[in-house]
Amino acid sequence: MGLSKRLNRFSQFYCNHSYIWDIGCDHGLLGMSFLNQPAVKQINLVDPALPVIKKLEDSYITIPKINIIHNKGQNLIIPNSNQNSLYIAGMGGLEMREILQKLLPQLGREDRILISPHRHILELRKYLQGSPFRLVEEGVVEEAGHFYPYLYLAQDARFAEVSLYGEQMWQGEEGQKYLSYLIGHLSCHKNLASQAYLNHLKGLISP
Ligand SMILES: C[S@@+](CC[C@H](N)C(=O)[O-])C[C@H]1O[C@@H](n2cnc3c(N)ncnc32)[C@H](O)[C@@H]1O
Repeated sequence: MGLSKRLNRFSQFYCNHSYIWDIGCDHGLLGMSFLNQPAVKQINLVDPALPVIKKLEDSYITIPKINIIHNKGQNLIIPNSNQNSLYIAGMGGLEMREILQKLLPQLGREDRILISPHRHILELRKYLQGSPFRLVEEGVVEEAGHFYPYLYLAQDARFAEVSLYGEQMWQGEEGQKYLSYLIGHLSCHKNLASQAYLNHLKGLISP
């Protein structure tokens, strides 16, 4: 099966690492898309849901490079420092924050992370602001009427810190559409953090 536009965009961030971690993999399509990359030695498909694991085992267990892990991302041990690409997509930002709190201290300077939270992105950004992981790139994919923000991170001081509200995020056609969408969406949120975010976003609209 081919990758969706969203997963295809995320797969473009691969940078010749040997160890792939598709955390919260569900169907496993993102992780499996790296199977034919010459540098890849192991693809770890990680999910805590037993039905998901059973399906993955039925489809992929005989493929030598595939390692299916029935566990939460929070419980992973990541060996082979500096050769890992982590992908965490389609979960809430609070769950991702918990996972990253456990995994970031295990990672090396050359490791990379792609995250795409479907909610609570501000909480995740706030956590990342204080972490040694910096922002290589951020953006949003629009697919089938939904917006999927993503951040690509590296432990490399040459890059800027993750910002609270995002900067590159609002560039380009998809970024501008996402900005308009969020301004409408946040208008019905009454809490202070959402209102501050909304005011910031309104300030980004060109007159
Ligand atoms: C909506 S699916 C996303 C699938 C795929 N990553 C994507 O973006 O298309 C979310 C998956 O995350 C898994 N999940 C939820 N909490 C998790 C955790 N703490 N660690 C790892 N996986 C988790 C769920 O079982 C589910 O299969």
